[in-house]
Amino acid sequence: MITETILEKATDKLQFEGFLKLPIEKGLDLVHEINRIKKEKNAVILAHYYQRPEIQDIADFVGDSLGLSQQAAQTKADLIVFAGVHFMGETAKILSPQKKVVLPDLKAGCSLSESAPPDLFKRFLDKHPHHIVVTYINCTAEIKAMSDIICTSANAEKIINSIPKTQPIIFAPDKNLGNYLIHKTGRDMVLWEGACIVHEAFAIDKLLELHKQHPHAKIIAHPESETHLLKVAHYIGSTTGMINFVKNDPCSEFIIATEAGILHQMAKEVPTKSLIPAPSHEDNTCACSECAFMRLNTLEKLYLCLKYELPEINVPEEIQKKALIPIQRMLEISKK
Ligand code: 13P
Ligand code: SF4
Repeated sequence: MITETILEKATDKLQFEGFLKLPIEKGLDLVHEINRIKKEKNAVILAHYYQRPEIQDIADFVGDSLGLSQQAAQTKADLIVFAGVHFMGETAKILSPQKKVVLPDLKAGCSLSESAPPDLFKRFLDKHPHHIVVTYINCTAEIKAMSDIICTSANAEKIINSIPKTQPIIFAPDKNLGNYLIHKTGRDMVLWEGACIVHEAFAIDKLLELHKQHPHAKIIAHPESETHLLKVAHYIGSTTGMINFVKNDPCSEFIIATEAGILHQMAKEVPTKSLIPAPSHEDNTCACSECAFMRLNTLEKLYLCLKYELPEINVPEEIQKKALIPIQRMLEISKK
């Protein structure tokens, strides 16, 4: 039984730890309890494909950033438990400000999001007046509030193509996705120099070596990967796009260049196909293709977060209102 004092201490600690640190009864069936509390509270669990397998398995919806924001915008639940990273929880809160949004671990950040501090970004925008600002969803609410249109990897090309050809564009914060879009759309965009640490960790020489050993395998990559890697990929797309490609393509062997969490869902969809994770760096022992931020969420933290409705994501009202406009623009363009 958790007393009020213990709970108070645990919520005080939350500030430093980023998650609620409370004892969990030994032998408790977490899956059963999560499902029970979820029903009782009319809560929904939204999970990204990069989450741990046990979290994906208990979620009501598993998807890419676009799918998750669409779900957050339309859910009838009172409580959104976001099993993903901080910017995803913020996006859900911006889209559904009247709902309570909780994240199992507040320290689940993102290198892309952190690469764009609001003050520097503001100065960058001031240096490029008359540019339309297209921002990848992997950024903070403050950056979204300074943007004209948000995009995800699933709709970025469509969004760029929806902008009149004579209109100069700033694209932020992912330079790799930006360069890929310049190549795909032929638009000359001003790029912010951010990158994803996970996708930049793939080693091209080792990937080519691996492909020599599996010459019939198709290489599929996320557009957050570097240009030299994208050049050798047979398919480039969002996490949902990659899963659909593997499902629909007749090939039976694939080399997957994205965060390793996706393999769980992919293997469920195509149990008879061979899925080979793309190699990272020189050191074979490192788990570079796992996003350390995404992995901060565990089933235990998810349980505590659902039970105590903490840690909660809040976005100041002024920022929420400003950030909602470019997100809604993205959702509108994506419908067309
Ligand atoms: P998508 O799932 O939208 O492709 O994004 C990948 C990603 O890196 C999320 O952080
Ligand atoms: Fe951010 Fe990369 Fe992790 Fe996605 S995989 S949350 S882009 S650091």
